[in-house]
Amino acid sequence: MSLTAPSVQNEDTSLDLTLRPQTWNEYIGQEGIKKNLKILIQAAKERDEAVDHLLFYGPPGLGKTTLANLIAREMGAQIKITSGPAIERVGDLASILTNLSPGDILFIDEAHRLNKLIEEILYPALESRSLDIVIGKGPSARTIQLDLPPFTLIAATTRMALLSSPLRSRFSGGTFRLDFYSDDEIGKIIMRSAKILGISIDNEAILEIAKRSRFTPRVANRLLKRARDFAQVERSGSLTADLAVKALDLMEIDRRGLEATDRMILDAIIKKFSGGPVGLATLAAATSEEKETIEEVYEPYLMQLGFIERTSRGRVATRHAYEHIGKEIPSAGQANLI
Ligand code: ADE
Repeated sequence: MSLTAPSVQNEDTSLDLTLRPQTWNEYIGQEGIKKNLKILIQAAKERDEAVDHLLFYGPPGLGKTTLANLIAREMGAQIKITSGPAIERVGDLASILTNLSPGDILFIDEAHRLNKLIEEILYPALESRSLDIVIGKGPSARTIQLDLPPFTLIAATTRMALLSSPLRSRFSGGTFRLDFYSDDEIGKIIMRSAKILGISIDNEAILEIAKRSRFTPRVANRLLKRARDFAQVERSGSLTADLAVKALDLMEIDRRGLEATDRMILDAIIKKFSGGPVGLATLAAATSEEKETIEEVYEPYLMQLGFIERTSRGRVATRHAYEHIGKEIPSAGQANLI
């Protein structure tokens, strides 16, 4: 594996390296996607071809990068990893593409952040494996065409709607939406990770962590590691439910997995804007968060819990949100409640 951008070197990279599933059997959940991918891979292998280009989308932390690595492993292919914002100039993409070997997988994370010029270079590269680059400027400018080896692009995005439609239509292998995991699946992932990390953990502790993991493996693994730290410092040989709850309380993660920022967002909608509707920009200003972070990181989970809804006039808190933060639901006359 090679990394072409420092931006992908975050905490999850090191988590991934030890906990990342190496085979389909180890990969828990996303059953429909797994079935489709297995067929694509087997068929491509039998024909001795590269897999067709694939697009994964869905909230962060659900395993898009993990799936790409798994596909590479199954294909016996090399994977080159980069991200939309890391490819700044046409030359960056040209150098990545011309350095590919036959059968390589190119993984582009945050594909919605590719700039338009780069996207346009990508279209013929995907469709006919040709790289058209313009050399020079003005009347003496000319286009040269380079042939590329057969390769597979796997693009991942948290924001499908921001991908241009010409790009969206070029994933001939398919477009796959990753879903949030069930508590049961998250429980299995925690159990597997605990085993790999040598943590002795009881079933209730697994349940307590699973309930607060936002239906997201990355979060589950992070909470497990922090709870392990807590148990270790408390000199406990095993991670019990009691210790797990204490560790999670200390992290200010509540019983539904909400963190301080989630609660701040709910509080702002309910207390500052009478439950909404409130526009995204206003909400971002009121909470000192970036619009994109609210939209990509916090909202999907709050919507999954049914705490907020997106309406044409803005974000609205639901009665579940009022109940969760312990604020009385306004009476029918004054409420914008859903
Ligand atoms: N770690 C992260 N995602 C996983 C998954 N889907 N299955 C098993 N372990 C994981």
